Amino acid sequence: MTVGKFITFEGIDGSGKSTQAKLLAERLQSEGHEVVLTREPGGSVGAEEIRAMVLEGDPDRWSAETEILLFTAARRDHLERTILPALAAGKIVICDRFADSTRMYQGLSRGDLRTVVDQLHMLMIGREPDLTILIDMDPVIGLARAKSRQTSEERFEDFGAGLQKRMRRGFLDLAEEFAERFRVIDGGRTTEDVGNDVFETIRTHLQDSAS
Ligand code: ADP
Ligand code: TYD
Repeated sequence: MTVGKFITFEGIDGSGKSTQAKLLAERLQSEGHEVVLTREPGGSVGAEEIRAMVLEGDPDRWSAETEILLFTAARRDHLERTILPALAAGKIVICDRFADSTRMYQGLSRGDLRTVVDQLHMLMIGREPDLTILIDMDPVIGLARAKSRQTSEERFEDFGAGLQKRMRRGFLDLAEEFAERFRVIDGGRTTEDVGNDVFETIRTHLQDSAS
């Protein structure tokens, strides 16, 4: 049985997920919570190795199906070695992206593979977050923010504004599909305003689930 809380951040590239995940972790820690801040793809030694393979180099060397297997393999390792042990110890796990990203990027971007993504998820992962914060954002602004970061990991940012737009729509649809665990937050504001909104949302959730 898991006793901690599993919180994920989702949204298009550049929407502010990493910034907000870090801020939330710091705020919860300062209130005395034990927090594990992690990310996908990655978050464990093996999964970080898979991250380097999928986000760098020629993206066309994998088929869409192979890519689903790689992201899910990384997630399985991350779940076994980082997420589940932390939840079992009663910690709050904050994860920058999780299975909803595979539902979007692998499930939507190269044809309709959502059913395959969901089937593999059921077989190998079988766990959803307790709460998912979707940072919703204008795709053009998100892309400009993501591009300004200058890293060698440009796998999906390279697809440009068209894909970002479809992903934004897809994430909003996903938030309706899983309305119980999703909370949508407007990312087009200052870091501080978004952060306050995120913190209040989490505080309400923690209070509700404790009562
Ligand atoms: P993501 O993890 O969703 O890709 P990041 O948190 O890495 O997004 O943010 C992308 C870029 O935008 C970073 O350079 C970050 O400093 C900046 N940024 C994040 N939040 C805001 C905000 N509310 N306003 C302006 N810039 C932001
Ligand atoms: P991330 O480092 O979160 O990128 P960003 O900070 O720009 O949002 O994720 C790297 C890329 O990996 C991102 O473009 C989305 C993609 N991705 C998938 O395609 N499938 C997945 O299952 C995950 C977790 C990420």
